[in-house]
Amino acid sequence: MLNLVLFGPPGSGKGTQAENIIAKYNLVHLSTGDMLRAEIKAETKLGLEAKTLMDKGELVPDSVVIGMIENKLDSNKTANGFVFDGFPRTVKQAEALDELLANRNVPIRLVLSMVVSEEELTRRILHRGKSSGRTDDQDESIVKNRVAEYRKKTEPLASYYQAQGKLKEVKGEAPVEEVCAALCNEIEAVKHTA
Ligand code: AP5
Repeated sequence: MLNLVLFGPPGSGKGTQAENIIAKYNLVHLSTGDMLRAEIKAETKLGLEAKTLMDKGELVPDSVVIGMIENKLDSNKTANGFVFDGFPRTVKQAEALDELLANRNVPIRLVLSMVVSEEELTRRILHRGKSSGRTDDQDESIVKNRVAEYRKKTEPLASYYQAQGKLKEVKGEAPVEEVCAALCNEIEAVKHTA
């Protein structure tokens, strides 16, 4: 099973590249951001609680997203592998994911970190905000708060995965096709390893 984590700050291209990678390698895309937005759209209790935090650019509680991921792992037992996008985002989430995957004997093979400058992240997100309908894309102070949350709570995961020998950095500011090729090079290098 090929389990990959796409890692990087808001706007670094995780969702864009996840689409390319799942198509090429026949994997299942697990985006906690998309799952939460589906809950908001369906106006569930969970969605309404998450919306308050997401609209401010803050993370939702670990227990909520860990539970969502566990459900998806259980409902996709025959998958070739998963692309985790926007999860894990805290050390607690990373530890929980390691445990969930260890119980299923299908560990993470690679963590692909996309490096993009803060200026470019802000430019991309505000540009998308003109048409995305995402409230967290439309205000520069909220975008800055999303990046600040990333720096404080998510960036420390780079050393967590570095210590496991799984982290690979890729320059994320090139055109989409070039970033995709660089990510696929890294995937090819681990694809046939046990
Ligand atoms: P989430 O939905 O995960 O958003 P994010 O991480 O902020 O990521 P984005 O979707 O903004 O960016 P991306 O890196 O996927 O880039 P994309 O490909 O879209 O999370 C939203 C919120 O949900 C969080 O703030 C939090 O509240 C909550 N949440 C989610 N998961 C959580 C978790 N695990 N724990 C707690 N809370 C959680 O690209 C962005 C733009 O750039 C697009 O317009 C794209 O077309 C463009 N673009 C992409 N690549 C390139 C390129 N190479 N060149 C030029 N433009 C590009």
